[in-house]
Parts: sequence; structure tokens; C-alpha cells
Amino acid sequence: MENHSFKRHRRLRNSTNMRALVRETKLTPDDLIYPIFVVEGSNIKKEVSSMPGVFQVSLDYLTDEMKELVQLGIRSVLLFGIPKEKDEVGSQAYCETGIIQEALRQIKQDVPELITIADTCLCEYTSHGHCGVIHNGDVHNDESLELIVETAISQAKAGADIIAPSNMMDGFVTAVRKGLDNAGFENIPVMSYAVKYASSHYGPFREAAEGAPQFGDRKTYQMDPANRLEAFREAGSDIIQGADFLIVKPALSYMDIIRDVKERFNAPLVAYNVSGEYAMVKAAAQNGWIDEKEIVLEQLTSMKRAGADLIITYFAKDAAKWINR
Ligand code: PBG
Ligand code: ZN
Repeated sequence: MENHSFKRHRRLRNSTNMRALVRETKLTPDDLIYPIFVVEGSNIKKEVSSMPGVFQVSLDYLTDEMKELVQLGIRSVLLFGIPKEKDEVGSQAYCETGIIQEALRQIKQDVPELITIADTCLCEYTSHGHCGVIHNGDVHNDESLELIVETAISQAKAGADIIAPSNMMDGFVTAVRKGLDNAGFENIPVMSYAVKYASSHYGPFREAAEGAPQFGDRKTYQMDPANRLEAFREAGSDIIQGADFLIVKPALSYMDIIRDVKERFNAPLVAYNVSGEYAMVKAAAQNGWIDEKEIVLEQLTSMKRAGADLIITYFAKDAAKWINR
């Protein structure tokens, strides 16, 4: 006899098919953006020691990597360039023959259907490792904007489908949008790193991209992890300035922010599952302490449940393989 004093929630969980029928969140390869580090030189495929399975690759390896993404059903790639020469003003970031520009041209030639997202920043290109130009020991906002705009335009000229400015200077979306429009790229969307915290989860990336600050930290331009309302101010100004996508970064410790920003601004929301989040899972998995596949799929699904439409993740290829299987 049924006891009507309580609800039997387990009815909807009693088989694999029943669970699939009522599942609210589904992860597909469409949701994933794969970040890649392209390095100057040839015949280079160098594993990042703190990120097993992630490599710096030279141009001669790039096309095969991109074809693999397409085969797996992944639609877009986020490109980081690592130049041979760095200087005070990051000249290689906006050089017509810079590594990222060469990579973009090559991908558009060889794998035109893949959506290329250019990370637009200076830290991989400056000798001091900061995301802009230095005046009196700090990054100068407005002068750095000019260089970010130059970088964005040169990336668009080289074939970038989306520009993703990430240096966290005030006004960078307005500046980049204007710069792109004036150069005839009014149809290229801006994916803004709108909500980027000064997080300790970026350590492995700084090894991968060779872009660690040589003095100080990024706390005068990236956000304080303790703040939520500040995320609304940042995202709000980027929306007003014309951002087409909003990135929240990192992801796992900031699920509340992902939810809040998605609900408030109603724009395509991108969660960045960053290098430190990748490294922690990899390390535990290599020790046999966790089930990597199950953990990764649970984390990525949770990011979507929190409100992410897209996820930038170093696990993109593995996750696509696991989903497709
Ligand atoms: C810098 C930048 C960072 C990441 C991407 N672009 C972090 C930083 O050094 O401040 C981090 C990505 C990751 O950790 O995976 N513009
Ligand atoms: Zn930077």
C-alpha cells in the first residue's frame, strides 16, 4: 500500500533510462572550447610538467591537433601564443608575423570550419610578464588599452573568428569593439574575460604560457576572490560596452558567480575551467585516488548546471571522447 504522507522521488531514478528521461543538464562536445599553446619554432611538442596531457606545440603539429578537435565534434579552439622574443611592450603580440597570427592563418587555411578564438593579452609577450605596459611599478591602464586594440586588430586580420580580450584593463571592451569596427571587423564578436579573479589556480598556466609576472602580482587588475558584487559591476560594464560573451574565471570555486552572472545579464556565459583545476584532478587521478573520467564529467556537467553555456577546458578532448563513447 502506498504511503501518501511522503513523495517517492526514487520512482524517477529507478533505471538508467528513467534517469536519462528526466535528466536536466546534458553535456555535449558542442559546449567545449579547447585551449592550446602555440610556440614559435618547429618540431616542438613539449608536455607542460604541471599539466600532464597538455602540450606546447609548434605550427607543424598544429593542423593535426585542430583536425582531431573537429573529428571529436569540438567546434572551437582558444589560442595562446608563445613568442621567442619578449620585450617591455609585448611587440610580438601585435606583430603581423607573430606566432598567434601565423597560427590563425594556418588554421583558417587548413581547418576553416573550426571557430578560432584569439586570447588577446600581452603577458605571454612582455619581458616583465604583466598584461600591459608598466609605469611606476604598475600596469598603466590606458596605454595598455592601445596595445590590446592593436593586438585584437592584428588577430582579426589574421583570421580570428572571435576576439577574447583578457588583460582586465578598464574599458577594454569599448576600446576593442571600436578598434575592430573601425578596421572593418564589425561582425567579429568579443568574448570578454569580464569576471577574472586574481586566483591561485593559474599557476600551471603560467608555466604553460611562460607568462608569469616577474615582479608583484596581478591584484591591481584582476578581481578579489572575496567579491561577488564586483562581478556584477565588471560584467555590467562589459555588457554596456558591447561584449557578446562573458567569461567567468576560474570555474569550480566560482559556481555562485557563474549562476549570478548568467541570471542577471542573460548573455552567453563561458566558464573557464583553469589550469590549476586541471592539475589537481590530474594529480589525484595519477595517484589512483579518484576516477578521472567520472570526476571530470561531473565537474563539467556541474558548470553547465550552474549556468555556463560553454566551457573552456583542457579536458575538452578527453571529455568529448568520453561523451561520444
Ligand atoms: C592571463 C591569463 C591567465 C590565464 C589565461 N590568460 C592567468 C594569469 O596569468 O593571470 C589562466 C588560464 C589558466 O589558468 O588555465 N591573461
Ligand atoms: Zn595577461
